[in-house]
Amino acid sequence: MSINNSLNHFNVSSAVNIKSKVSLITGASSGIGKATANLFARIGAIVMIADIDEERGKEVTREISTQGFVADFIKLDVTDEASWVSAYEYISNQYHQLNILVNNAGIAFGGSVTELSLQDWRHLMAVNLDGVFLGTKHAIPFMQKSGGGSIINVSSAAGIVGSSTAAAYCASKGGVRLFTKAVALECASAKNNIRVNSIHPGPVATPMFEKGSTWNDFVKQMGGIDEAWKKVSESTPLGRVAEPQEIANAILFLASDLSSYMTGSEIIIDGGFTAQ
Ligand SMILES: NC(=O)c1ccc[n+]([C@@H]2O[C@H](COP(=O)([O-])OP(=O)(O)OC[C@H]3O[C@@H](n4cnc5c(N)ncnc54)[C@H](O)[C@@H]3O)[C@@H](O)[C@H]2O)c1
Repeated sequence: MSINNSLNHFNVSSAVNIKSKVSLITGASSGIGKATANLFARIGAIVMIADIDEERGKEVTREISTQGFVADFIKLDVTDEASWVSAYEYISNQYHQLNILVNNAGIAFGGSVTELSLQDWRHLMAVNLDGVFLGTKHAIPFMQKSGGGSIINVSSAAGIVGSSTAAAYCASKGGVRLFTKAVALECASAKNNIRVNSIHPGPVATPMFEKGSTWNDFVKQMGGIDEAWKKVSESTPLGRVAEPQEIANAILFLASDLSSYMTGSEIIIDGGFTAQ
């Protein structure tokens, strides 16, 4: 190994380049996944929009394709192993490789742990944790055949610190965080060339918030939707919620060679929430 001034040889635009890389993004019909799909496509990646929501997923795919970028929709239920196997078979037949996997699909609901049913607990774990496990399990051999790859798991600030009203969500996202580190170590070798990292958003302006069963109660308690969003914004030192694009930017960084020496790492994008 020689120590030289590697900056002289560093080409920024080629490091950020994911052009022609085949990427699968789960939960890409909405929110953070949709913003990531749009960003990846604009940089020239071949983007698989994978979601259980077929109607919206096809709409996102059309929007991207009509602008001259490459996107394809795959109906995928992340909780179902057979669904993953057929998604990868499709990609293998059509595009011959898999370079980037973004395990982004997720659901959230709050409420007291004493009122949480085992059925709801299991459903949340199935989407948020089983989904990440299954996607990763079947991506690794495919990426090995493809010459390597980058896996980005979307956890949460709630995977780092607890929240008094979200025990199941915190447990699932904490699980994603350590699953990521364990798999990163398992994959870490120059021969494999597969990196695995997690990202941890704080509050982001997506439909997820408003889908949660406790959102309506919170809105009532705060006296209206604007007041509810104001309260969420005030919980962060930056005083606002993130735009999905701000999370997509970090996902792009982890997908690209700009992060070539990162594996088993976590990026927190939370407006300072967990710094408090
Ligand atoms: N919005 C936030 O404040 C926030 C904060 C931290 C982390 N996150 C995480 O970011 C990720 C994306 O969330 P978002 O805010 O964009 O939510 P969103 O509700 O806008 O999008 C989630 C997508 O996942 C899809 N999905 C749900 N179940 C699925 C399944 N079984 N199989 C395939 N797809 C499924 C939905 O159809 C939807 O398109 C989630 O993992 C979430 O936990 C969100």
